[in-house]
Amino acid sequence: MTSNRFAFFNGEFVPIEQAQVSVMTAALNYGLGVFEGIRAYWNADDGQLYVFHLREHMERLRRSCNIMFMNLPYSVDELYDLTVELLRREAFREDAYIRPLVFKSDHTIAVRLNNMTDAFVLYAVPFGQYIPGTAVRACVSSWRRIEDNIMPSRAKVSGGYVNSALAKTEALLNGYDEAIVLGGDGQVSEASAANLYIVRNGALITPPITSDILEGITRRVVAHLAQAELGVPVIERPIDRTELYVAEEAFFCGTGAEVKPIIEIDRRPVGSGAVGEITARLAELYSAVVRGCLPAYRAWCTPVYIDEGA
Ligand SMILES: Cc1ncc(COP(=O)(O)O)c(C=O)c1O
Repeated sequence: MTSNRFAFFNGEFVPIEQAQVSVMTAALNYGLGVFEGIRAYWNADDGQLYVFHLREHMERLRRSCNIMFMNLPYSVDELYDLTVELLRREAFREDAYIRPLVFKSDHTIAVRLNNMTDAFVLYAVPFGQYIPGTAVRACVSSWRRIEDNIMPSRAKVSGGYVNSALAKTEALLNGYDEAIVLGGDGQVSEASAANLYIVRNGALITPPITSDILEGITRRVVAHLAQAELGVPVIERPIDRTELYVAEEAFFCGTGAEVKPIIEIDRRPVGSGAVGEITARLAELYSAVVRGCLPAYRAWCTPVYIDEGA
């Protein structure tokens, strides 16, 4: 694996070791940042690196900024171009993960969002699987998902990932692969850093965007693929905890998680205990789509390299 060499920081591309902040930075002390997680997939046949849904991620970054009083002096188009430029400089010929981060850079003890300075950094690293294994065992976490009136759950706020880290750590230390986090109302919200679908009576079901979830881009992609490609209906509605135990299939989805089958929840097998058929077909479709293998969905993939395209 190669490592990363550059960052776009304070308005210019610099060697990654020069992208540094002080220990006094407000964002480091109080979690005052918003970020995105974007994937780029290497397609060896095309000799091309494809960034998946780059524009949608940058649009969500700008929405997160708006919620958190962050001033990002770049348009979605500029963020798009900066990302392509960064990846060209890195010259990755493998899968990568791209991280834009907007944060409060002041050196102050004050805890607020207004009247502060915003900084922006963009970097990318080679990246493989986020959740190891082909199928996972999950537990319902004792931690509840951050509620929208406590901390914006639809924004990717740095500090909000304390909640994710607590849930994930508890799951791992208890021998599971991933956590399913309930909302304040006791209904299923999402995973530690991924959204969730179950299958019941042949239909996909996922919690609505009012269930304190992150409005996941993969969640929307999955809904589209299920309906358009598999003819599987998609229902957004609250999900009870025990529905997890009677689901025919279940899976996590997210930029990091991709489409990750769940075969066991709270020590109960999901369906037959093997990867479900709809889940398997969606995982396969998703992986073809993100690598730019399906012409119908090529527009969702931004090619990075100019001369090496198919
Ligand atoms: C808390 C949380 N929920 C859900 C997701 C899935 O969102 P997306 O599909 O946009 O990556 C993520 C990020 O991957 C996340 O961090």
